[in-house]
Amino acid sequence: MAPYAQGPYANNGAVDSGGGPALIVGATGYIGRFVAEACLDSGRKTCILVRPGNACPARAAAVDALRQKGAVVIEVKTHTQLLDISYCCLSPDEPACDRAISIGQGCVETALRVHGVEVVISVMGGANILDQLRLIDAIRTVGTVKRFLPSEFGHDVDRARPVGAGLGFYEEKRRVRRAAEASGVPYTYICCNSIAGWPYFDNTHPSEVPPPLDRFQIYGDGTVRAFFVAGSDIGKFTIKAAYDPRSANKIVHFRPASNLLSTNEMASLWESKIGRTLPRVTLSEDDLLAMAAEDIVPASIVASLTHDIFINGCQTKFHMDGCRDIEISSLYPDVPFITVDECFDDYAKSLRLEPEETEDNNKSNAPVVERLEVSPTCA
Ligand SMILES: NC(=O)c1ccc[n+]([C@@H]2O[C@H](COP(=O)([O-])OP(=O)(O)OC[C@H]3O[C@@H](n4cnc5c(N)ncnc54)[C@H](OP(=O)(O)O)[C@@H]3O)[C@@H](O)[C@H]2O)c1
Repeated sequence: MAPYAQGPYANNGAVDSGGGPALIVGATGYIGRFVAEACLDSGRKTCILVRPGNACPARAAAVDALRQKGAVVIEVKTHTQLLDISYCCLSPDEPACDRAISIGQGCVETALRVHGVEVVISVMGGANILDQLRLIDAIRTVGTVKRFLPSEFGHDVDRARPVGAGLGFYEEKRRVRRAAEASGVPYTYICCNSIAGWPYFDNTHPSEVPPPLDRFQIYGDGTVRAFFVAGSDIGKFTIKAAYDPRSANKIVHFRPASNLLSTNEMASLWESKIGRTLPRVTLSEDDLLAMAAEDIVPASIVASLTHDIFINGCQTKFHMDGCRDIEISSLYPDVPFITVDECFDDYAKSLRLEPEETEDNNKSNAPVVERLEVSPTCA
């Protein structure tokens, strides 16, 4: 909480943010796009704060797509870190804002004021987690933001205890949590667990890759379960929670019972979609720990979190605290989640698989289990 908050947030009260404008920082990112699209779909004014440069076509396309959907694009005008900027300008579509404003660090503050932003959602990427400290400063200075959602979108970082590289990452996220709490701005922490898709141990954006067609990598004995949530549901439920007074100063957990699966169960489900059986290779606890101990970002972080999920069972091995924690389905019991089954149907359709023709595959119904040789690096 915020024992020393002053000014407009002194009472640290849960303010109903109604339907006021949102500012999304990191909207061009993997999770950010889902959040920005859901915000636009909700009909609320949606501003996105973007860094300069269209060097990456995918990023430029993401900004264009969101602009066409109605997002107000607030573009920073320097190549230095966004929240350490000297100049920015607001979208030319916005009245009286088609000029560069020399406001130094006050750029974000100006954007918050000009657009009357009530909800700020940060979806900044892993390497830039601490940049959010400046964002929190700006929010606190302006004093009119009714809810702040830091870039969480994973596990409860105060509870989870990953080893190796993942721990340093969580320590940064914890620091942001403490700053948010000290600011007195009502906050919501979104713990959406794993994104629906095959949980590749070496890919930060696993849902962008279809599940395997050659072999499954199974972590440990493959029985530890995790919650898998479709990207569009992460976006949709994040926006609901961001505007819901019941989630102010809470940790909101996404734990859809229908989407609690182990890697063994995921593998069998995918096999049923593709109509064939694939070999399973085991990635042991030691394999994951060895990768997590290296200092390769982000690969070591992903391996570390994979270990925490599928060996330690970090998503399920804790009790919800009635005061601090809320399960999202208890807020919206009538709103269904997309199932992993449906996600896998979509992957299978997108792959346009030929019907299985070889006899060899049909000979064995039992999965083949072998041990995977893992090289010392996972870059
Ligand atoms: N649950 C899951 O399965 C899962 C999976 C992946 C990530 N996550 C979490 O989701 C969050 C976002 O990660 P991500 O992988 O989506 O990130 P990402 O794809 O790397 O995108 C990061 C976004 O943040 C922006 N950004 C970075 N630094 C910034 C700064 N200083 N100022 C303004 N914008 C900045 C980037 O802008 P540019 O376009 O200018 O680079 C980009 O839009 C993280 O907290 C991560 O841990 C969860």
